[in-house]
Amino acid sequence: MRLIDFIPKPYSKTLDNGSVTWSSPSNIALVKYWGKREPQLPENSSISFTLSACETITKLNYTKRENNGNFSFDVILNGEKKDAFKSKIDTFFKRIEAYVPFLKDYHFIIETQNTFPHSSGIASSASGMSALALCLMSVERSLSEVEINELFFTQKASFLARLGSGSACRSLEGPLVVWGAHQEIEGSSDLFGIKYPFEVHDNFKNYQDVILLVDKGQKQVSSTLGHNLMHDHPFAQERFKQAHDNISALKLVLEQGDLDMFIKIVESEALTLHAMMMTSKPYFILIKPNTLEIINKIWSYRKETGSKICFTLDAGANVHLLFPEKEAKNVLKFISTELVAHCENGNYICDNIGLGANEL
Ligand code: DP6
Repeated sequence: MRLIDFIPKPYSKTLDNGSVTWSSPSNIALVKYWGKREPQLPENSSISFTLSACETITKLNYTKRENNGNFSFDVILNGEKKDAFKSKIDTFFKRIEAYVPFLKDYHFIIETQNTFPHSSGIASSASGMSALALCLMSVERSLSEVEINELFFTQKASFLARLGSGSACRSLEGPLVVWGAHQEIEGSSDLFGIKYPFEVHDNFKNYQDVILLVDKGQKQVSSTLGHNLMHDHPFAQERFKQAHDNISALKLVLEQGDLDMFIKIVESEALTLHAMMMTSKPYFILIKPNTLEIINKIWSYRKETGSKICFTLDAGANVHLLFPEKEAKNVLKFISTELVAHCENGNYICDNIGLGANEL
């Protein structure tokens, strides 16, 4: 697929009004995307588990109107008008206008809600942008005379979602999605995410993710700002190469079900992401004392019990605990006796690996 393939032929049908609804999940990267170039292209390939319970549900209502050269839309979050989100959506619409040229012909009401609390410190941009991109693709499908097949529909929705938020392009399918061209992964592209195309060992079936909410506050540093600090970062090139090599290594791990090697790669990726933040100019620290307490307790627990639990981190203080389904009972006990004390108000979210977005 090339950029030009995403520019549609003039639409032949007309639509006066209607609505579409999609749910789309969050995702958690195993090999992290950190560093991008215009227009929202990744400096290295990344791979993520798609989540299941943490999702955004977006209903897009559209009404035909006179095109006056501006976008026209309202955003409603959990039933309340949210003008604070407008500039982000306006930027998104500007970036994707060439690919979905009907945007200025409609007034949109974007009604959205998250299944996870807004103030949980969990970024809603991946689930939110992917849900909105899918809604727009459903509108495009209704406007097009030519049949849009499922593969193109998903690829273009992922392509649009990427222009809203990079990691959003990895939320449409599951259980594993790769974004960013990698020569050992056929079909992988910088333009959109693809479903991981190889067999995955049963050890990773229905893998669990418990998100420990260490700090539910707003992000201190936006991810866009963080990505930009990779531009003249002294370790950037080495980091991009490392991510590339980690994807190659993970390919074998996923095939063979090697949980020990999985732990090594995933934890190293999480710590490297934060090491990049700590060594950029300006430098910053997003982990909190409780993040480190949890990491140390995970390492002790693993040593004492032989468990295959591991952690990963986003650009924040919360800890994602990843573990095989068969360990769920023991790990939940470990969480309630040892880790809950390090969560803000004792809060955590139990999730597992899912299969991606759904039209409702
Ligand atoms: C640390 O996708 O939030 O979660 O493209 O600027 O919207 P933008 O950034 P975003 O970055 C996510 C970074 C990460 C790692 C990852 O998900 O791969």
